[in-house]
Amino acid sequence: MRLTVIGCGYVGLVTGACLAAAGHEVYCTDIDEKRIEQLKAGKVPIYEEHLEEVLKRAAAEKKITYTADAGEAIRAGEVIFICVGTPPKESGEADLSAIDHVARQVAREARSPKLVVEKSTVPALTGRQLQKALAAYSQNGTVKFEVASNPEFLREGTAVEDFFHPDRIVVGVESEKSAAVMREIYAPILERKFHCPVHSGKCPSSSGELLITTISSAELIKHASNSYLAMKISYANVISDLCERIGADVEEVTHAMGLDPRIGAQFLKAGLGFGGFCFPKDIQAFIHLSSTVGIDFEMLKAAERVNKQRIDRFFDKIHKALWVIKGKKVAVLGLAFKANTDDIRFAPALDVIRRLLDEGAEVQASDPQAISRTKPLLPSVKYFEDPYEALKGVDAALVCTEWQVFRKLDWAKAGPTMARRLVIDGRNLYSSKKMQELGFDYHSFGRL
Ligand code: UGA
Repeated sequence: MRLTVIGCGYVGLVTGACLAAAGHEVYCTDIDEKRIEQLKAGKVPIYEEHLEEVLKRAAAEKKITYTADAGEAIRAGEVIFICVGTPPKESGEADLSAIDHVARQVAREARSPKLVVEKSTVPALTGRQLQKALAAYSQNGTVKFEVASNPEFLREGTAVEDFFHPDRIVVGVESEKSAAVMREIYAPILERKFHCPVHSGKCPSSSGELLITTISSAELIKHASNSYLAMKISYANVISDLCERIGADVEEVTHAMGLDPRIGAQFLKAGLGFGGFCFPKDIQAFIHLSSTVGIDFEMLKAAERVNKQRIDRFFDKIHKALWVIKGKKVAVLGLAFKANTDDIRFAPALDVIRRLLDEGAEVQASDPQAISRTKPLLPSVKYFEDPYEALKGVDAALVCTEWQVFRKLDWAKAGPTMARRLVIDGRNLYSSKKMQELGFDYHSFGRL
């Protein structure tokens, strides 16, 4: 099928690449002409595991076309996936101006009927507005549009794997005809008819489920899922604080909790809390949406508040262990909001660094992927690709992202190069016992 993807960010590029790998003919467009030029030249503008390989194969098989001409892309596809950003406004409400812009563009440029699919994370009821906008701006009302909602559940860092091996594919539609089109699009994924770059022929056996719902349900499923996961993390973080007060170990507690299949083991890791461009903004948008329909979503507000306080808790530990921050040299290990991505949007590490700088510290940072994105925002920080270099001469090391290379750091080697053997671990990466045996003053979250 011929498909158009509007927006070549994290969601759009992965969606376009994987749908091309599934055998569709995909046209990708973006208002950022530089990005399109980069893609045409075979460069991938974001770091996402396996994405480069999937895009290369799609290009070699002539399944993917990039164009900065949105009109050309819109006319080429039978189905149009909207993958543009929906950033938060001051009020927490999602800014839907990019979606509105695309809707008007599609209505103006289309010459034949289109199924317009919202893939960006949008608040419930956006589908209705999209239908209205498409009808209102359509060329003399002659071109007919249908709308569908197909929320993505991709995690940055494992987005390609998540796309090819989904737990569920949710499709909200307004007609059986649209449902049939969406089933056809996803048939190769569900039937495993694609070259999997992740497992090279040894894919896991389960293949996910395609759920057909109403548009509003599909929109709600996305927000309800992200918010629930965010609440789960905040819950684990409160348990962690409680453990510190009463002398229990959060990992023993959450491990046992997670063995109950009704709870599940994932998203119970205590520490610096959640960041990224999804949870913080989605939780805010969901609170806002709920309030507009007269529902005070207290639980979500609490989860958000707990998350914001994680940085304070971290600084309580820093102040207690390091005492005065002013004039101290501090290493920050990790800039990205989580491992395996170069994304620093709403990254707790950046808040930590800003506060360290405000309090007069000298900061040396290391991250395997996110240095070039962070540098322009925080130019006074010294950056090192090699974490051992970042640790030289520091009074304290702060762990902010759970990268594998930090997990595997040889602290026996780093220790003698530091001015003081102090590690404050925001991601609970190391064994307290081992760090103490190596002579470190070691602090983490909720552990003995
Ligand atoms: C999240 C969801 O997991 C995806 O299903 C969803 O598609 C995506 O948002 C989206 O809406 O686009 P993502 O933001 O990539 O994906 O990251 P997660 O892996 O969910 O992690 C979010 C944050 O929570 C990270 O900062 C991570 O460090 C933190 N986290 C995660 C914890 O603090 N504790 C945990 O136990 C798990």
